[in-house]
Amino acid sequence: MARIEMMEFGIMQRLFQGSGCLKKIVDILDNEGWKRVMLIADPYLYKAGVVAPVEECIKEAGAEYIVFTNVRPNPEVVTIEKEAIPAFKEFKADVIIAVGGGSTMDTAKGVVLVGDSDHGVMDFTIDKIRHDEKFDHKMPAMIALPTTAGTGSEVCRNAVICDESGLKLVPSHDSILPQYALMDPDLLAGMPFKVAAATSVDAFTHALETLTNTNANDFTRTFSLRALELIGESIRPFVANPAVPKWANMMSLGCMYAGFSLGLASIGQDHVITHPMSEDPFHMPHGDACGMALPPVIEYNGAGCKELYRQAYNAVTGKRLAPEEFEVQMLIDWVVDLNVDLRIADNKTFEEWGYNDGEVLELMLNHPIVQLGVRINSPNEQCEYPRYTSIDDYRDIIQRMNVYSKAQAERAKAKKTSV
Ligand SMILES: [Fe+2]
Repeated sequence: MARIEMMEFGIMQRLFQGSGCLKKIVDILDNEGWKRVMLIADPYLYKAGVVAPVEECIKEAGAEYIVFTNVRPNPEVVTIEKEAIPAFKEFKADVIIAVGGGSTMDTAKGVVLVGDSDHGVMDFTIDKIRHDEKFDHKMPAMIALPTTAGTGSEVCRNAVICDESGLKLVPSHDSILPQYALMDPDLLAGMPFKVAAATSVDAFTHALETLTNTNANDFTRTFSLRALELIGESIRPFVANPAVPKWANMMSLGCMYAGFSLGLASIGQDHVITHPMSEDPFHMPHGDACGMALPPVIEYNGAGCKELYRQAYNAVTGKRLAPEEFEVQMLIDWVVDLNVDLRIADNKTFEEWGYNDGEVLELMLNHPIVQLGVRINSPNEQCEYPRYTSIDDYRDIIQRMNVYSKAQAERAKAKKTSV
C-alpha cells in the first residue's frame, strides 16, 4: 500500500489583520490580564508618532508601560543583553509589545528568550536547543505589530541576531512565536521607498524559496503560492505608494502567508548568499541582497524545479502558461525587471558594491553561513534545496550574480533613456 507522507501545520498564535486592527491591543491586554508592558519600538517610527496609537491603547487598557527604542539595524547581542534585558528585568514586564520591522521584532525576541534567567541570548541558537525544548525560567508574552511587509517575523519562531563579530545567528524556539500578531496595513503607510522596496523583495524571496524548499508540503505550498499572487500584483504599486490601503493590505497578507511557509519549509541558497552580502565590503540591506542573488539562484535551481517555477511565474503574473510554454528564463527576467523598477541595490553592479573575482569572492565563500549551507545540504545529509549546492556551485552562482547585476544596471539605464 502506498504511504502518504505525514504533514504538520499548527497556528499557535492569534492573528488579526486589516486596517485599524492594532486597537485589539486594548482587548488583548484586558482579557489576558497583562498589566505591565515593555513597548519595544523602532526609534524613527517612535519619533515620527507612528507608535502613538499603540501607546494610547496601552493607556486605555489601564496598563503600566516602559518604552525601549534603542533598536539597531541587525541587532547585536551586546545591545540586547546590556540594555534591553536589564530594562525588562527591572520593570518586570509580563508582556512585550514590539512595533517595527525585523530588527525590532528580533530585539524583542531576544528579550523574550532570556526572560528572567541568567542565560545569554546565544544560548538559544538553532544548534544549541530544540525548538520545543522546555525551560524552567519565566518568559514574557509577546505581541507583534509589523511596520514593514518583509521579514514575516511576526508569524515565525526565529530571530536573527548578530554576535560580537557581526555574524548573524538564528535563535529559534516556540516561545518566540508571538502569542498575538496584529498586522495593520495602516502601519505601513509612511515607509520610505528604499525600505518598502527592500523589505517587499525580502517577502517575495521568502515566498519563492519556501515554494521550492524540499521540506515544503501541500500546506506550505498553498501559502507560498497565495503569497506570490498577492505580492506579484501589489509589489510595484505598494512600493510606489505604501499609503494606498488596497496595496498595503495585499502586501501585508502576502508577507504573512510567506511567513507561515517560512516557519515550516525554510529558505534556500539565496538566503545563504545574502549573509556575506550584509558584511564587509558590501553592507547591503538584506532585501537588496535577496533581490540581487535571486536571478542566478533561480538559474542554478531551474533544472531541479522547473514546474514549481512555472507555478510561481503564473502566480506573480496572473498568466496561465502550460508547462510547454514556460522557460525558467521567463521567471528570471521577471525578477530582473522587478529589481530594476524597485531600484534594488540602487541598480548598481555588484562590482560597484565592492565585488571582485579574487579576494572578495573567496571572502564570501569562506563565510561561516556559506560553509554551513554547503555542509548541511551535502549529498550525505537531507538536502533542503532543489539542487545540491557545493562550494564550487556557490562560486558559479556568485560569479553569475555579478553578470546579472550588470544586466540589471543596463536595463535600468535603457529604461531611463526610453522614458
Ligand atoms: Fe529574508
